[in-house]
Amino acid sequence: MDADLLIINAAQMLTCASPDGPKRGAALADPGLIEDGALASLEGQIVAVGRTAELLALLDDPAAAHVIDATGKVVLPGFVDPHTHLLWAGDRAGELEQRIAGATYMQIMQAGGGIMSTVRATRAASLDELIAQTLPRLDTMMAHGTTTAEVKTGYGLDLDSEIKMLDAIRLLDEEHPMDLVPTFMAAHAVPAEYAGRTDAYVDLVVEEMLPAVADLRYTVETVEGEYYVRAADFCDVFCEAGVFDLAQTRRILEAAAELGMGLKLHADEFEPIGGAALAAELGAASADHLVRTTDEQLASLAASDTIAVSLPGTPFGLGHHDFTRARRLIELGGALALASDLNPGTCWCESMQFIVALACRYLKLTPAEAINAATINAAHALNLGRYVGSLEAGKQADVLVLDIPDYRHVGYRFGTNLVETVIKRGAVV
Ligand code: NIG
Ligand code: FE
Repeated sequence: MDADLLIINAAQMLTCASPDGPKRGAALADPGLIEDGALASLEGQIVAVGRTAELLALLDDPAAAHVIDATGKVVLPGFVDPHTHLLWAGDRAGELEQRIAGATYMQIMQAGGGIMSTVRATRAASLDELIAQTLPRLDTMMAHGTTTAEVKTGYGLDLDSEIKMLDAIRLLDEEHPMDLVPTFMAAHAVPAEYAGRTDAYVDLVVEEMLPAVADLRYTVETVEGEYYVRAADFCDVFCEAGVFDLAQTRRILEAAAELGMGLKLHADEFEPIGGAALAAELGAASADHLVRTTDEQLASLAASDTIAVSLPGTPFGLGHHDFTRARRLIELGGALALASDLNPGTCWCESMQFIVALACRYLKLTPAEAINAATINAAHALNLGRYVGSLEAGKQADVLVLDIPDYRHVGYRFGTNLVETVIKRGAVV
């Protein structure tokens, strides 16, 4: 067997392996731990994972590979962050002060701030400015161990500005080692020009924006020739009291499904209006937030193939005390993932390590459960479970080396970066 990259002697290697789909129920607790672990990759793909001595014996010429000695360290799959709004212009530092003084997120939004404030800044920014402001965040995410991330539009809210966001995501994906998964989210808020006319805005999204975005393709040039990628893999809606109601959400998502897009929903962040069960019914890839989800709706979600994505950085960022009832969902056999929700309003946090630490405290996940939720199950929330999210032969070699003696230090420690080396597609970043 040939390899061009070898990681050997890891005190602990967590594979997070789950060949039969996302980890549900008790399986979430198994991190696939290998002591004295090793991994070999070739041309960006994992070719073998196992104990160091056994793996070295499989190689024709171990000296041909770049070797990383992980003695005393922990090796994990790169984190997958399946819910971010990482592309924006400006900031909303003042809103933290407004909330400290007692205003709620929804009050700030209804007064024209919140998402609308970022929409104004993002519309005003050129494509280059938008990219320049976003790149440092992408670098920070990767330095903290994220190797694949979803990115939503939704700070444009008119066709040209939404397409500017999609163009920026495409250019960032090309320019940066991180893999980005684009989600179209024109239904993130009702723009000022449609204030009080939500249904008319939904008409615009369904009749004009979605068809235009579904038709938009980007050309990728490779040595073997050109191919085309879709501008958006998913469509997402902020299904929330006072934003888009259940019927409006259904209309948008059914239109998106018709056009061949995958579906996502912001469900039950502030009020339980039924987004979780709608996600399950429509076969959405994920339902996200799920802070207020009722028992009945949690049960329908758990019984479906839709991944439940919890975003504990958001209630934390808002200073709230309620979080996704993750233990209940796991008991019901649901598939739980974690994401950052990185955005300028509620959660400017690039670090999945910090999200894991929050999940260990407020979702009562063990570090093993939280790591699985932030890797393999997060990959499934993007329909990428076959390619990333675990250390298994055949998958992309997205690997982290952490300078810690025991994997439980992820979750236990927070506020500093424990990642020492990030490997993306077999290359040290
Ligand atoms: O997931 N809730 C809606 N969207 C984001 C927040 C975006 C913003 O405030 O800019 C979220 O929390
Ligand atoms: Fe969000």
